[in-house]
Amino acid sequence: MSDPMIRLRELYVEFNPPGKRIQAVNGVDLTVDRGEVVALIGESGSGKSVTLRAMMRLHPEKTTRYSGALEVAGQDVLGMGGGALSQLRGKRVAMIFQEPLLALDPVYTLGEQIVEAIRRHEPLGRAEARARALQLFERVRIPSPERRLDAYPHEMSGGMRQRAMIALALACNPQVLLADEPTTALDATVQIQILLLLRDLQRELGLSIVFVTHDIGAAAEVADRMAVMYAGRIVEEGPASELLTRPRHPYTRALLGSRDEGALRKGRRLDTIGGAPPDLARLPAGCAFAARCAFADDACRAAVPERRELGARHAAACRRLDELPALLAVRADEALPS
Ligand SMILES: Nc1ncnc2c1ncn2[C@@H]1O[C@H](COP(=O)(O)OP(=O)(O)OP(=O)(O)O)[C@@H](O)[C@H]1O
Ligand SMILES: [Mg+2]
Repeated sequence: MSDPMIRLRELYVEFNPPGKRIQAVNGVDLTVDRGEVVALIGESGSGKSVTLRAMMRLHPEKTTRYSGALEVAGQDVLGMGGGALSQLRGKRVAMIFQEPLLALDPVYTLGEQIVEAIRRHEPLGRAEARARALQLFERVRIPSPERRLDAYPHEMSGGMRQRAMIALALACNPQVLLADEPTTALDATVQIQILLLLRDLQRELGLSIVFVTHDIGAAAEVADRMAVMYAGRIVEEGPASELLTRPRHPYTRALLGSRDEGALRKGRRLDTIGGAPPDLARLPAGCAFAARCAFADDACRAAVPERRELGARHAAACRRLDELPALLAVRADEALPS
């Protein structure tokens, strides 16, 4: 049974700095259920962060134009006023970033910052809030939590700092946790520990989690579903294991590279693909991937392909999906030595 916590329908996000028009998100449909973990993947500049930040309406109000529908916990995020928006940001949705040092204040201990965050949301005394902060540190599995509460951010390792930031994010009891490359700055082993922690928190707290990552092996390990973005559109989405073993869209196939046994290794980065993504100030009329796609024809270049359902929660937007297996077989034949 689906129980949507986040619903994006035909979401567009356009930036209009003076004299410019940047079409960063171009008709995204995405549903994240209560208790679901969804990973957004795709090359740099594909609109992952813009999509994530839109869920909290964090873009500069003056130069950003949103259209479409965006609901979080049943509320219309694009239509809400200032009061409702700060409620949403403070109570329902929390966000963590790649670099905790930017979010943490260097002059206060972690304990002080978490106590402060808790008291901003609930009428608790100092001692009670401190006890809650300690629970949060235990919850994110920080060893010697009592002592660590009195540490300053720079006294912790990167992994511990990221745990502390997750604890800070949980201080307001959110229903949704958004994580933008929460592990990119960390060593591979620490990365997977943090992602597994997110997975555990989802189970323990029933959170919905959307995270952005460049590590597809890790994404597959912790996410229920993955959505692949290209030029501000989701070109394919589906159950993580299915996307990994049976990618359908040419871009997903290219991104995942050859299906060798290394494909699932942790820490494996996305393959690079020849060519460059389109200029978001000048999107092509048709499929945005056509210029780099080995299978594109004139019709692909003429109109944006529609999203097609391919089975249980698996969908892709490519005109030539049905022809691809045959086209790929021909190419494999051609590659054989004669
Ligand atoms: N406030 C803004 N004003 C103008 N352009 C912006 C703004 N925020 C993002 N962009 C542009 O939107 C596009 C998409 O950026 P986004 O940060 O979502 O990419 P990404 O997929 O997260 O990439 P990466 O993997 O590098 O983090 C980029 O071209 C970026 O420069
Ligand atoms: Mg980003």
